[in-house]
Amino acid sequence: MQLKDKTAIVTGSASGIGKEIAIVFAREGAKVAIADLDKKAADATAKEIDPTGKRAVGVAMDVANEEQVDAGTAMVIKTFGTLDVLVSNAGIQIVAPVVDFEFAKWKRLLAIHLDGAFLTTRAALRQMYKQKSGSIIYMGSVHSKEASKLKAPYVAAKHALLGLARVVAKEGAEYGVRANVICPGFVRTPLVDKQIPEQAKALGITEQQVIDNVMLKDTVDHQFTTVEDVAETALFLAGFNSNALTGQSIIVSHGWFME
Ligand SMILES: NC(=O)c1ccc[n+]([C@@H]2O[C@H](COP(=O)([O-])OP(=O)(O)OC[C@H]3O[C@@H](n4cnc5c(N)ncnc54)[C@H](O)[C@@H]3O)[C@@H](O)[C@H]2O)c1
Repeated sequence: MQLKDKTAIVTGSASGIGKEIAIVFAREGAKVAIADLDKKAADATAKEIDPTGKRAVGVAMDVANEEQVDAGTAMVIKTFGTLDVLVSNAGIQIVAPVVDFEFAKWKRLLAIHLDGAFLTTRAALRQMYKQKSGSIIYMGSVHSKEASKLKAPYVAAKHALLGLARVVAKEGAEYGVRANVICPGFVRTPLVDKQIPEQAKALGITEQQVIDNVMLKDTVDHQFTTVEDVAETALFLAGFNSNALTGQSIIVSHGWFME
């Protein structure tokens, strides 16, 4: 077991990629907090992982809300005693061309992806610095490296996470805290399923064309990345034992983007 007796907060883990990360971390012996806006779904995921409630708990948390992040993190530390891993994963997608993008939607997306990453990091570091160890994993995207039409705030936020991770890697090193970014290609989660018809409408093409010509066009094998692929990468980063692997980004995208 790679995470025996470790503790983790995974944000946005009531669904999709985050949920699979929480499942894999628990399989590897970690105690996991399912921190999500949707408390009912978070509780259901926690129950699915551990019906006794000892190794998995649901936490109501809007990652863009300072009080909720600080209170939720404090509650998890009180419950589990330590905090070894933070996966800053919660996110949304809103698609529209820049020329039509509503300012309120731009701000909401940036608040969840960027304010959320900052607030959860700050809350986690306060504990990790005391422990002198920790691993912070940001859920970036191929859109941390590459751009697509219709996704201005998402691409901007995902690029920014690389910068945040590098600063945290530099500041955290003396406390044994590492920070890295996972950059997945398209994964069939509710977030992606919602945008297929939206992109088809905005681009004037069919949904199948969105999959073939937009989402999978540049992969080496025309395959979606899976939640399992991303969760195994998160496990690797969470369990890595030294500062040798910090300030990095790992692209998991069937070769869509190579560097
Ligand atoms: N699906 C993909 O193709 C893909 C690719 C690259 C990166 N990502 C990133 O992976 C992360 C997870 O995406 P997913 O595809 O699993 O999406 P998802 O919609 O399946 O899950 C997102 C979860 O985040 C939660 N959430 C939303 N806003 C929140 C907030 N303010 N506070 C707390 N929780 C909140 C939702 O309730 C949901 O449970 C996101 O950061 C996304 O940008 C996804």
